[in-house]
Amino acid sequence: MSTLGIIGAGHIGSQVARAAIATGYDVVISNSRGPETLADLVTELGPKARAATAAGAGEAGDVVVVTVPLKAIEQVPVEPLAGKIVIDTNNYYFERDGHIAALDEGTDTVSEMLQRHLPTSRVAKGFNHIMAKDITEDALPAGDPKRRALATSSDFDDASTFVEKLYDEFGFDTVNVGPLADSWRVERDRPAYVVRQSKAELVENLAKAPRTV
Ligand SMILES: NC(=O)c1ccc[n+]([C@@H]2O[C@H](COP(=O)([O-])OP(=O)(O)OC[C@H]3O[C@@H](n4cnc5c(N)ncnc54)[C@H](OP(=O)(O)O)[C@@H]3O)[C@@H](O)[C@H]2O)c1
Repeated sequence: MSTLGIIGAGHIGSQVARAAIATGYDVVISNSRGPETLADLVTELGPKARAATAAGAGEAGDVVVVTVPLKAIEQVPVEPLAGKIVIDTNNYYFERDGHIAALDEGTDTVSEMLQRHLPTSRVAKGFNHIMAKDITEDALPAGDPKRRALATSSDFDDASTFVEKLYDEFGFDTVNVGPLADSWRVERDRPAYVVRQSKAELVENLAKAPRTV
């Protein structure tokens, strides 16, 4: 795995790109408006980055990060991501995405929605409960007692294992929530959401999460 494809170049996509390049990956990044609109970001990221269409970023990535507003996931290209690990950073904001009854009622999860849209990919939750700026600002070496922990979740062991490796390379510990059906524990407004927490604190916060908020 050497190239990270990134679909979405906003707050999270650009920060994941910065951390990935600092860690040694190549990055192919995309947005909805076209690669030419990403010239400034690519210049900042340097020679290990290039811009592409969403399909191009999907094709180029050994692993692909989907980091668009939830309302846009139906537009994420399916075929270029087939057979690949896909990292899902997405959260549900009804104010932005419109109301989705199954999420409001607690009978579905954001990541299961993406997994259904990408049936030939292996989706793992990642980077959804950290503010974008903290991806680079909160990183600490393994073993540091102040190291922050982040959650992942997947129906595929190799996908959650990859996120754990990437978190470690970026400077974070991992707690695995289990299958995507349980990923609501780290969704918006739960105790683990966008707070700085150690691995032990994250385990506690995940355990006390209510199913609906
Ligand atoms: N901001 C945070 O701190 C944070 C933290 C954790 C998780 N999240 C979640 O992560 C996701 C991304 O958040 P964000 O804050 O990075 O969003 P953002 O700043 O609004 O950026 C969204 C990006 O997605 C692109 N995009 C939209 N539709 C697309 C499509 N159909 N194909 C390709 N690219 C498309 C946009 O491109 P254009 O600009 O060209 O339209 C933009 O680059 C959201 O679900 C959010 O809730 C955000």
